[in-house]
Amino acid sequence: MNSERIYIFDTTLRDGEQSPGISLNSFEKLEIAEQLARLGVDVIEAGFPISSPGDFEGVEKIARSVSGVTVCALARAIEKDVTTAWDAIRHAERPRIHTFISTSDVHLEHQLRKSRDEVLEIARRMVALAASLCDDVEFSAMDATRSDPDFLASVLAAAVEEGARTINIPDTVGYAIPSEFGDFIRGQFQRVPGLRDVAVSVHCHNDLGLAVANSLAAVEAGATQIECAINGLGERAGNASLEEIVMILETRRAALDRMTGVKTTEISRTSRLVSQLTGYDVQPNKAIVGKNAFAHESGIHQDGVLKERTTYEIMNAASVGRGQSDIVLGKHSGRHALKSAMEELGFKLSDDELNQAFVHFKKIADRKKQVTAVDLEHLVSEDLRELSDIFELKAYHVTAAAGSMSESRVEIGKEGQRLSGESVTGGSMESIFKAIDNAVGTRGKLKDYQVRSVTEGKDSLGEVRVVVEVGGQAYAGTALSIDVVEASAKAYVRALNNAYRVGAVK
Ligand code: KIV
Ligand code: ZN
Repeated sequence: MNSERIYIFDTTLRDGEQSPGISLNSFEKLEIAEQLARLGVDVIEAGFPISSPGDFEGVEKIARSVSGVTVCALARAIEKDVTTAWDAIRHAERPRIHTFISTSDVHLEHQLRKSRDEVLEIARRMVALAASLCDDVEFSAMDATRSDPDFLASVLAAAVEEGARTINIPDTVGYAIPSEFGDFIRGQFQRVPGLRDVAVSVHCHNDLGLAVANSLAAVEAGATQIECAINGLGERAGNASLEEIVMILETRRAALDRMTGVKTTEISRTSRLVSQLTGYDVQPNKAIVGKNAFAHESGIHQDGVLKERTTYEIMNAASVGRGQSDIVLGKHSGRHALKSAMEELGFKLSDDELNQAFVHFKKIADRKKQVTAVDLEHLVSEDLRELSDIFELKAYHVTAAAGSMSESRVEIGKEGQRLSGESVTGGSMESIFKAIDNAVGTRGKLKDYQVRSVTEGKDSLGEVRVVVEVGGQAYAGTALSIDVVEASAKAYVRALNNAYRVGAVK
């Protein structure tokens, strides 16, 4: 079946990163971007370079090293934003500048304090500027769905005339309902004939829980690009969820006659990575990626599925990467087995990286009978993160017994030096975190602490995420180990590494 291609524009690293409490460093952004490329999205919106030096660095890093995908940077319709966005992405294999300005009267009057004529003129000039720098320009009319359709049409027509190749019509505040949004998009196609020559995109927020439904209504009205985010992350209630959009188009292809280029078997892994690095848990009943999305509780359903899976399942769990992978290694597996398992998972490791991964793998395999694909995926992530750390947990010793104080001693490596710290306090976590503070010379305040197991079983790898406040700013750190005490200490050290990167720890 030759269905029409829908382009998937992923904004996890830009709109998703604007979710409260999420702050990814440039290495974490790169890790997610590499996974998005493996997932097969068409465009990665890597960030908003003018917003901070850290954001610029993250976008630039992604532009320089992620290939096979368009790397896009956001810019307000302001000259400095546009030129800074271009500086951040100019080295990408396929760069795109995404510039935007609001078109609704409420935004013009209260936020921009500009007239319609002024906004039209700015949109025209900034799209022209972006097009003079970069072949691929996207223009968004912010708050489009609450804009006067005729004024919106005049701005979109100007953007097309000045060289925008993609026109995005966002439902910025998640106000639209599907039938109305579909008509709204059709109305713009009628008013602006030039829209037939460019890609028409939509960007829907989920304030009323309709982001996915609205995106689909737009596709049925002729849109060919959908902006969405992994796990539905984004401002407030989030953006349209990428995994839902993709699986709707996949599962209902006969009805919708549209397809994407996404490799659906990478969906679960991408969702796990984003959840791990952002600290945003996925609700258990979330469609496609929730823990229970393929679980059957009622006896009647279980009976049906055992007899014939399709009685109660419209998708196969394996099609979104949730099936049991064939990869299982153990303590007798050698370097060659590890290398081919890594390749199967899509990791291209250098010889040094493979050596490091092998040492790490052996440590895990000595204590864990079966090392699965999910374990390996976490192991590689952990190794990659360690490569960019300044502080490294070299050794630790903690005592814990009912009714007595806990005593901790740690050694932290820092650029060839070894820093030691000790502490004696009431609880073992408190004492190890304080010992790390003493070694590094900080006074971190623990704001959040979460532990979860990576797989099932008592010998599962434990993953710990901490949020530590240093100098009034919060820094997150995630780490994993077969031992949760070690994972906790490493996560704390990683948070201090993140603080170090912005100069909050010396
Ligand atoms: O929600 C919105 O309108 C946006 C634009 C910048 C596309 O995020
Ligand atoms: Zn948005």
